[in-house]
Amino acid sequence: MPIEGPPAGRLLAATALIGGVPALVLLLLLATGQVTVLPGLLGLAASVVAALALARLWLGNLRRLAEALRRAEAGEDELPDIPGPPLLPSIAEIAEAVRRLSRRLRERAEQVWRLRRADEAIVEALPDPLVVLDGAGAPLRANAAARALFGGGRGAGGDLAALLRHPALADALDAAGAEQATRQVDISLPVPVPRDISVHLIPMEPALADGGRMVLFLSDRSRDRALERMRSDFVTNASHELRTPLASLIGFIETLRGPAQDDREAQGRFLGIMAEQSERMRRLIDDLLGLSRVEITEHLPPVGRVDLAALAQAEVTAMAPVLEARRATVETAFAAEAVAAPADAEQLGQVLRNLLENAARYGREGGTIRLGIAPAAPGGRWPPRPGVVLSVADEGLGIAKQHIPRLTERFYRVDRGRSRNAGGTGLGLAIVKHIVNRHRGQLVIESEEGVGSTFQVWLPAEPG
Ligand SMILES: Nc1ncnc2c1ncn2[C@@H]1O[C@H](COP(=O)(O)OP(=O)(O)OP(=O)(O)O)[C@@H](O)[C@H]1O
Ligand SMILES: [Mg+2]
Repeated sequence: MPIEGPPAGRLLAATALIGGVPALVLLLLLATGQVTVLPGLLGLAASVVAALALARLWLGNLRRLAEALRRAEAGEDELPDIPGPPLLPSIAEIAEAVRRLSRRLRERAEQVWRLRRADEAIVEALPDPLVVLDGAGAPLRANAAARALFGGGRGAGGDLAALLRHPALADALDAAGAEQATRQVDISLPVPVPRDISVHLIPMEPALADGGRMVLFLSDRSRDRALERMRSDFVTNASHELRTPLASLIGFIETLRGPAQDDREAQGRFLGIMAEQSERMRRLIDDLLGLSRVEITEHLPPVGRVDLAALAQAEVTAMAPVLEARRATVETAFAAEAVAAPADAEQLGQVLRNLLENAARYGREGGTIRLGIAPAAPGGRWPPRPGVVLSVADEGLGIAKQHIPRLTERFYRVDRGRSRNAGGTGLGLAIVKHIVNRHRGQLVIESEEGVGSTFQVWLPAEPG
């Protein structure tokens, strides 16, 4: 930016200041006749010209020095050499001092920046979830552990917003802010997966470098609570469901020891039933353990990507004996490049197995099962994110409306006898539901009595 010359008024004032006294003295000498006219006038002109030149140089130097200071204040990287006529000696010294000062300031700023980066790196790497809020309670940043916990992006993401809106946390924030004292509060988040989170609130006074006023340390207690709940549920349900086959086993053992002691034909028949009942008990225990495993991990989002078409093909192949027993055919329609992510291949295999097994079991004997995998159509019933939909449709008897919302409850069976005869325990869809929840997916069940049922699972997909 060119530097303008000094304004005329200021130039005149400076000229008068520098050349005023010698000019006055010369005028006085002229007036009293102590100096002859020509040398006197020449001297007068010379002193005015010299004063004007000095004033210009002086004012120009000062303006350029002021400009240099302004640039240093604005934090400009390298101060440019001050252009124009040579600087007066004392001003040159000041300019050099300004240059040194600005270099020092820059080094200081870099040091502060490095320290701040180190702070951020430590917070980011802490194993505990940590969220920093500004004075208005809005999230400024969340570290990696917090982002993993809430499945959101940097800052406020995903379910973190739900946590921050929770009335109990809002109250605790108000209290901690007013008293400037740490607080602890336990929060239960019902959706998308039930979670219990313990929050420690730590007010920051003075504020953090990034304006942070409140630090939230979170610890996810869901796993502990889920374990507690599961332990008691497991005992109740398992003992209830095991009682029937166990009673039948005890009954047959008594019969075999007593009335049927010598009846070889009856013994063979009873032992067959006993084997069936024991197998049923084994299945029940396997399913219950499977359900517990899924529940324990439900609040931890999966990692990995799953090629759904390949997985589905493998499951159909493995299911061949079950399908053959019901003379069912599977029609597949797989879109290429249907990749679910983040996803757990083992668990999605379990979903496919359960749905295919149900379609075979409750579908029409000799019927067709349609298994489809396609990208989710944008808009409509599915979430507004990239997703894939996996669907299993059968031609069975269908399910009456009132049962549909309850199918995913543990041990819920529409027709107990029929399910039991088919070897069902009523846990399959409960497991499916938990797996879908863990994937932040959706399960939609549609059915028309006498026509058939369709089970659709929406799963998040890799964008693009
Ligand atoms: N495709 C279907 N058509 C009709 N009814 C179904 C279908 N799928 C499930 N159901 C009903 O929903 C109930 C619950 O299904 P779920 O898969 O949870 O248990 P199950 O098949 O009985 O036992 P499990 O899967 O644990 O071996 C079934 O008992 C059945 O009544
Ligand atoms: Mg089932």
